[in-house]
Amino acid sequence: MHILHVVGARPNFMKAAPVIRAFGSRGGVKQTLVHTGQHYDANMSDVFFQQLSIPAPDVNLAVGSGTHAKQTAEIMTRIEPVILERKPDLVLVYGDVNSTAAAALVCAKLLVKVGHVEAGLRSFDRTMPEEINRLVTDQLSDLLFTPSRDGNENLGREGISPEKIHLVGNVMIDTLVQLLSTAMQTEIQNLPARYALVTLHRPSNVDDPQSLRSILEALLAVGERLAIVFPVHPRTRQRITEFGLATDRLQLLEPLPYVEFLAYQRRATVVITDSGGIQEETTYLHIPCLTLRENTERPVTVNIGTNVLIGRDMQKLRVELANILDGNGKRGSTPPLWDGHAGERIADIIVA
Ligand code: UD1
Repeated sequence: MHILHVVGARPNFMKAAPVIRAFGSRGGVKQTLVHTGQHYDANMSDVFFQQLSIPAPDVNLAVGSGTHAKQTAEIMTRIEPVILERKPDLVLVYGDVNSTAAAALVCAKLLVKVGHVEAGLRSFDRTMPEEINRLVTDQLSDLLFTPSRDGNENLGREGISPEKIHLVGNVMIDTLVQLLSTAMQTEIQNLPARYALVTLHRPSNVDDPQSLRSILEALLAVGERLAIVFPVHPRTRQRITEFGLATDRLQLLEPLPYVEFLAYQRRATVVITDSGGIQEETTYLHIPCLTLRENTERPVTVNIGTNVLIGRDMQKLRVELANILDGNGKRGSTPPLWDGHAGERIADIIVA
């Protein structure tokens, strides 16, 4: 059997690594890895390949940045001949980024089977580009691997037949489980005893000057009670510069490698974020998470885990933060099947 994996952007790498490893340890499966090049900075891509022990890509499409249409079209144009030439039996796509949807569309039209890892998540908010990518990818996939039961329910509601859907657990947590002890041994210089770890990159938060300004002002206010550690996504850094916003009292860092970021997360008092994956990682780590979004495609992190949706309500941010600092933050519990073995379950289902 020949499996071709497609990755492109930072959150894909943590999801693909355990699946690639699971097939590697079974033998008898040929694997090809295609990197679309959606993320190309060394600290958004190469360092993840090293730390997660992902083999070097067999093909790099080097698509780079662009508008959604341009980036998606470029990935489609460049991946089509690769699929035609390599003739995989199955293409695995991960998560909800433009690379995911673009590859699924090409494969569906070439009648090549597609498996979607992290299927079924829905924010029910079509203003999010990732929601469009999720809807399209799931409709086109032959195998859908879900991280939690709500994913199965969403897919059932959209008419996807149940025999295609497999509840396997969370592959991102596989990577976390594997590297947590390494992260805990990683020393971090000048780490404050208590701090808020912040990440921010959603277009809805950072592309609008008013919205980015109000979040940064709220963070400056938080900073009066608690140190702030803020590794800044390139998109957000560009916007801060473009809008001329003041950040001198915030500790801005470059994007961090996986292990270092995990070390920061594990020791944080609270995480303030608009990321998808970080809502899951904090739930697993039992660290309180305040999410700067109105909705989440990962409701288990709110229902079972440590996540609280803050939306744009900066007053709510202050109240929830005070709760956490008073020791009353959510402790949560771990969702079923978030146990470090999701990648193996996927390999078992595909190879069976
Ligand atoms: C993408 C995903 C998002 C994911 C995020 C993680 C989509 C629709 N969005 O958003 O779901 O949470 O990755 O980071 O696929 N840039 C660089 N260097 C890089 C990559 C990006 O400078 O290596 C800058 C470019 O200016 C680019 C901008 O960041 O235009 C945005 O990158 P893009 O890949 O379009 O989307 P992300 O915001 O990273």
